[in-house]
Amino acid sequence: SAFSAEAMKRAAARAALESVTHGMRLGLGSGSTAAHFVDLLGARVREGLEVICVPTSERTRAQAESLGISLSTLDETPQLDLTVDGADEFDAALRLIKGGGGALLREKIVAAASTRMFVIADATKEVRTLGAFPLPVEIDRFGARSTMLHIERVARGLGLIGPLTMRDAEPGERFITDGGHYIVDCAFGAIDDADALAARLSAIPGVVDHGLFIGLATAIFIAGAEGVRILGN
Ligand code: A5P
Repeated sequence: SAFSAEAMKRAAARAALESVTHGMRLGLGSGSTAAHFVDLLGARVREGLEVICVPTSERTRAQAESLGISLSTLDETPQLDLTVDGADEFDAALRLIKGGGGALLREKIVAAASTRMFVIADATKEVRTLGAFPLPVEIDRFGARSTMLHIERVARGLGLIGPLTMRDAEPGERFITDGGHYIVDCAFGAIDDADALAARLSAIPGVVDHGLFIGLATAIFIAGAEGVRILGN
């Protein structure tokens, strides 16, 4: 049920929060699971916990602000101790697909600026092979059609066939990211060589970034019916 899905997200968030200590510099993720973490963190801050936080989206900024959490920017605070974020999918090698909410670029920059990244998720996000969730790719608006064709060509070289869809905010209106770019959702199905795809997508000029997060997550807190399991350390 919807209730138990939310309860699991909250359980994962609560488990990750146990590692947060006084004085930490934190990256705050985006999405419904990360929102649970921000909410629980807000309660700890009200009780006196002092942390300084960098949000990964305007939405998370607004939520954190409303809870009285001290906010900073990566310009002021370029190195973070820990980022806690959700994911759309993850595998046993701690590789992720992110970007379902469209915040992947800032999420990746913030995660890369952090010593550790904790992913919080319910067990339904765990997959053997990434790709059931369409891979979001953030592209510059200039030459978007050409870049889409380039992505299609590069993917086909790895045996991956679309369909590729330009994300809309509503029918007839393109979704625009916080950074002012478009998102192409790539429904490849199983991505057997995620590392190769990540490298090849990054090499396409119009690609700003993509939703494959590889070598970034240091631990994944997975909430299931039997409690919270931790992958990694
Ligand atoms: C945002 O761009 C995504 O990367 C989110 O982390 C992802 O969509 C997870 O969101 P939920 O926690 O709502 O599933």
